[in-house]
Formats: sequence, C-alpha cells, structure tokens
Amino acid sequence: MSNVTIMNHPLIKHKISMLRNENTGTNEFRTLVEEIAMLMGYEALRDLPTEDVEIKTPIETCKSPMIAGKKMAVVPILRAGLGMVSGILALVPSAKVGHIGLYRDPETHEPHEYYCKLPDPIEQRTILVVDPMLATGGSGSEAVSFIKQHGGKNIKFMCIIAAPEGLERLQKDHPDIQIYVGQLDRCLNENAYICPGLGDAGDRIFGTK
Ligand code: PRP
Ligand code: URA
Repeated sequence: MSNVTIMNHPLIKHKISMLRNENTGTNEFRTLVEEIAMLMGYEALRDLPTEDVEIKTPIETCKSPMIAGKKMAVVPILRAGLGMVSGILALVPSAKVGHIGLYRDPETHEPHEYYCKLPDPIEQRTILVVDPMLATGGSGSEAVSFIKQHGGKNIKFMCIIAAPEGLERLQKDHPDIQIYVGQLDRCLNENAYICPGLGDAGDRIFGTK
C-alpha cells in the first residue's frame, strides 16, 4: 500500500470522531471538515516543490525556501468535496480550484457526471482531488479518470473516511496516484454506505436531507 497514506494523528482522529457523532450539527460539521482537510493537507502537500528566494531579514539578507510557482489545483468532487476546499486554500491561497460534479445513483450506486471545469494548464499542476467519502470508490475513480482525460498527470486524492472496498478500487484503477485517507473504516452496508462512517457527508455539510 505504498501509494496510500492513512493519517495517524490524534487531532485528526479526535475531529473525525466528532464528525461521526449524529448529534454534531451542520455548522460544527462544516467547520470540522474544513479543519480536517487543513490538517490532512499539511501531509498531502509535503512534497510541493520549493525554491530559494532572497529575503532581507531585520538582521541580514539570506536565501530562504518558498513554494515554487503557483501551479497547484484543488478539485472538489461536488458536492461534499466543496466542504474541504477552504481548508486547503488556507494552506495554499494561490491554488486554483476546479470542480467535478458527480452524484451516486441511489439504486445502482454508479457515479454520474454532471459538471467538469478544470484550471489550465492542468497538465502542469499538482492536483489535489478532495471528497470526504470514498465508499465504493466509483465517484473517486471516475473523477480521477476525467482529470486524466483532460491531461492531468500529478494527481493526489484525499478523503476523510474510506471503506476498504473503495480504497482497493481506487488503487486498482489508478495505481499511479497518491491517496491520503483520514480513517479507514470497516466495510460498506447494503446501501453502499460506510460503516461506521458518518452518514451522508453532503447532506450533513449543507444541512439537506
Ligand atoms: C458521496 C460522496 C462521494 C460519493 C462516495 O457523494 O461525497 O462523492 O458519495 O461514494 P462512492 O465511493 O460509492 O462513489 P454523493 O453522490 O452522495 O453526492 P453529494 O456529494 O452531492 O452528496
Ligand atoms: N456517501 C456518503 O456521503 N456517505 C457514505 O457513507 C457513502 C457515500
């Protein structure tokens, strides 16, 4: 599982437990998703390239590393992925934001695309695809395929909770991408919901039913 990183940090674990709680309301849920995305982003963006720039401190002039270029894109899978964008932009404010609209058919659980808009030049960017949930893996795998069709190359996928089934599918379909998982859960239920999971992430972020 060398292309998979499962987070192991008490702050992330604590916040995911709060997310799981059915009594956590919309406002708190949204804040937690943003905070977890930021904490996970710190790890997922560990290999962003830096370049030394000249800086004049109050004491002397030195060369000091800064993020090289402005070639990053964060791509949320609509809708629930939107909740993670602000956490990543807090870390990299210059990142461009693409969107991929997918919804899961409630009967077949197959993903259906309804929107795709990615920033140019996508092939030169580090692309961080975000979605809180990786259940069957259909949506995540389809989103990564769209990005590749549009020319995306350096792709990372970040989710807060994954089911083993979804993680296996994403790895099998896209062995070339890096995958970051907040917590790996037990299994899917008969409705392809993650157990124990947190319910429907999109509904809980946006207060819909
Ligand atoms: C949820 C979730 C993922 C997808 C995961 O979105 O945010 O995108 O399901 O399931 P999968 O791995 O089986 O494809 P949903 O389709 O419910 O849409 P929403 O974000 O608009 O709520
Ligand atoms: N989508 C969700 O929001 N939650 C799940 O458990 C599975 C898919």
